[in-house]
Amino acid sequence: MLLNNDIGIDLGTSSVLVYCKNKGIVAQEPSVVTVDENTKEIVAIGEQARKMLGKTPTNIVAVRPLREGVVSNFEVTEKMIRYFIDKAIGTDWFKKPTVAVCVPSRVTDTEKMAVEQATKYAGAGRVHVIEEPVAAALGAGIDITKPCGSLVVDIGGGTTDIAVISLGGIVISTSVKIAGDNFNDAILTYISMERDILIGEGTAENLKVVIGTVSEKTPYAETKVSGINKNTKLPDTITVSTEEMYKAMKKTADDIVEAVIGVLENTPPELSADILERGIVLTGGGSLLEGISDLIEDRTGVKCVTADDPVKCVAIGAGKYLEYKEDEPQQPNFSIKSLFGFWE
Ligand SMILES: Nc1ncnc2c1ncn2[C@@H]1O[C@H](COP(=O)(O)OP(=O)(O)OP(=O)(O)O)[C@@H](O)[C@H]1O
Ligand SMILES: [Mg+2]
Repeated sequence: MLLNNDIGIDLGTSSVLVYCKNKGIVAQEPSVVTVDENTKEIVAIGEQARKMLGKTPTNIVAVRPLREGVVSNFEVTEKMIRYFIDKAIGTDWFKKPTVAVCVPSRVTDTEKMAVEQATKYAGAGRVHVIEEPVAAALGAGIDITKPCGSLVVDIGGGTTDIAVISLGGIVISTSVKIAGDNFNDAILTYISMERDILIGEGTAENLKVVIGTVSEKTPYAETKVSGINKNTKLPDTITVSTEEMYKAMKKTADDIVEAVIGVLENTPPELSADILERGIVLTGGGSLLEGISDLIEDRTGVKCVTADDPVKCVAIGAGKYLEYKEDEPQQPNFSIKSLFGFWE
């Protein structure tokens, strides 16, 4: 029976990661749920649901319960969180888990409350809703308690969070709805407009990871991609190059860089000096995009460092956040099930 089962959850638009104290990352799956439209029952969650995408009968629909980082479907979000809590700590526990869950910076109080409620209904005891850049900074190993400015740029699937953090809090931040998904959309649109081939979201994602780039200096490479020819309406295969990827993706990358520059321009001078000395820290899956780090570095003149494990940073940071909070008095969230052996 688990006694200390506090967990940190990165409730991402693309994937959900769960960090458990003393165990590390215990779950990492896509934030996708498939629902039977006739019965409204959930069919599958996470990896199992992703595998079903595009291959299900028409009554089974895929839901991404978090759109652009916020709850778009409360009930499905709650069930998804329950699935991840159960997966992380099982159901045989003595005390309801304290959960730190992340939201993008600058979400509204109502949006924060929706995440908190969904997490509570999903079986959590105490819930700490923390802003994603704070967790990303902690996960990247930055000591956020010091009076020293750090600039974190977390490029996720739905949002890019940019924040200057000092003394444990956010001094200035922005959250733009331009991130990994937008690169996929840009690729999809480019291939449709310039090559007359319609490709799916998964194919665009694959292209991005394999030959995607936002740098002109990336060595030439090409790969084959299949879709539907808009003229013949039949399946077709074409060869796509890094040069085309650059053309397709550049504008989205520029929009992200503009947002970073906007935050830098509004950063108080003392903290700017710290950032210039320490550099910008990149986290999130989008920071793995070829050329993005160099692009931000070239345009801002500030050195960029990609965190060691950028995809796991937020979940690890959420878990570490609970360690800071450990001293606070706990509510007695005992599970009736654990005491008497039946459900509450
Ligand atoms: N090697 C890679 N190259 C380019 N992009 C990548 C790579 N690996 C992951 N990504 C992208 O990173 C994004 C997911 O990142 P991450 O897991 O940090 O997002 P998230 O936390 O779920 O989203 P958000 O923070 O916006 O809610 C996806 O768009 C994915 O395509
Ligand atoms: Mg994220």
